[in-house]
Amino acid sequence: MSDIKSYEQIKELLTQHGQQHLLAFYDELDEKQQQKLLSQLSELDFVQIDEWAEKYVKNDSPMEVPSEFEPAPSYPAEPEDDKQAATYKQAVEKGVKLLENGKVAGFTVAGGQGTRLGFSGPKGNYPISPVKQKTLFQLFAETVAAASAKFGAAIPWYIMTSPLNHAETVETFEQSSYFGLNPDNVFIFQQGTNINFSLDGKILLAEKDKLATSPDGHGGSLKALHVSGAIADMKKRGVEYISYWQVDNPLVRLFDPLFIGLHAKNNAGMSSKALIKAYPTEKVGNFCLVDGKVTVIEYSDLPEDDAHRQNPDGSLVFELGSIAIHIVSVDFVEKLNAHGFALPIHRAVKKIPHINEKGEKVKPEEPNGVKLETFVFDALPLADESIILETVREEEFAPVKNAEGTDSPAVTKQMMTERAAKWLEAAGIQIPRNSEGKPDCVIEMAPSFAIFPEDVEAKKAAVPDIKPGDEIYLD
Ligand code: UD1
Repeated sequence: MSDIKSYEQIKELLTQHGQQHLLAFYDELDEKQQQKLLSQLSELDFVQIDEWAEKYVKNDSPMEVPSEFEPAPSYPAEPEDDKQAATYKQAVEKGVKLLENGKVAGFTVAGGQGTRLGFSGPKGNYPISPVKQKTLFQLFAETVAAASAKFGAAIPWYIMTSPLNHAETVETFEQSSYFGLNPDNVFIFQQGTNINFSLDGKILLAEKDKLATSPDGHGGSLKALHVSGAIADMKKRGVEYISYWQVDNPLVRLFDPLFIGLHAKNNAGMSSKALIKAYPTEKVGNFCLVDGKVTVIEYSDLPEDDAHRQNPDGSLVFELGSIAIHIVSVDFVEKLNAHGFALPIHRAVKKIPHINEKGEKVKPEEPNGVKLETFVFDALPLADESIILETVREEEFAPVKNAEGTDSPAVTKQMMTERAAKWLEAAGIQIPRNSEGKPDCVIEMAPSFAIFPEDVEAKKAAVPDIKPGDEIYLD
């Protein structure tokens, strides 16, 4: 927190930097409101704001696509030969040991807004499980509990919110008694924000005494982990690795010994899971190597020719899509924050409610301003080492993003049933299937029943006969 500057100091600064409109309604404010506004303005770094306004607001400086890049190497979802099978076995053992020794924490980024889903409030409160309608937060909490029990160690869980949903998220956890978790092991903290601009580079007011701001993107999580004291808390607990996932994906394998073990064995700073893209231009980031460093090139930036380029066997040359599942080392986050941590800025043109020059509140129908964000995957090239582990879509990726169609709750629920059916069948249990081969039933497998496919074996005696049309809840 910097000291609050006086009205005169602020006025001079704003005038120098062409932002004097921010004081247009100052005289209408009461003393408390005036202090509130001066305090926000005192925090701003105007040299940086000028740079941002020039580079990202008034002009669109697109991300520079590197002149040379190649596909990034990856570990396949299943080992391809005996040597690799031995490596995977050792990695799993290492991952299990790290989990048993309390070296791994969970981390959910949940600061975004469910705009596309049309759901108000924290997205983690969205009811998603196919039978009991458990929310995303409840499913993650139950998985944290099940993993803690399985590995015999408390697993702390860190949740990043933003001013858009912090109070409601905390209230959710308090009202639900932390879904049975020990509140000492749940750490909810807010990410940073960035100010919003009009398209001509002016800072927008949300109220006459309040600047318009928005969350600084999931890249902000790597800073917020440090600023909030979460990293200090992890170090006190002896945590060395952070399992990072997005709030929208209930299929994610929260604590994957193989992934954790491969990351640790390679002394990686930040690692990623990847999917083989469903088609060349699927809207996911592409894992590439740039100057020998793992780098994500956004789908919108990957040249069309490269997106379609094929290997002799018909597979895509750039086939690895980013699904926002990472392991991050605690010491990597510390290193990033030690020397003025910064990630590249991405620009998003949005509809931003604001106070216009007449002092009226405006809710624009068309995009009228710019929000600036950073993306977590831009930290990958800053790591000395970074590995990629491929995973299988049906096993681990069913994000809830849109109200209907692709990535909608209906698809996610169907995928939850399908994965449960697959795990049960692998243990020899019969599942009724329809003419298309889809399960002819709805199955919800609670985390207390299984968090890995191999957990089903010990529980299978408790599974009832499943008949067509049944709704089954297994816990
Ligand atoms: C993101 C990724 C995309 C990936 C996809 C996987 C980007 C630009 N794209 O897309 O490559 O394939 O997820 O599902 O990231 N969040 C915050 N604070 C913020 C912004 C977002 O915590 O300031 C959180 C959200 O709560 C959510 C996650 O980050 O958990 C993803 O945000 P969202 O904006 O929905 O990303 P997508 O565009 O869906």
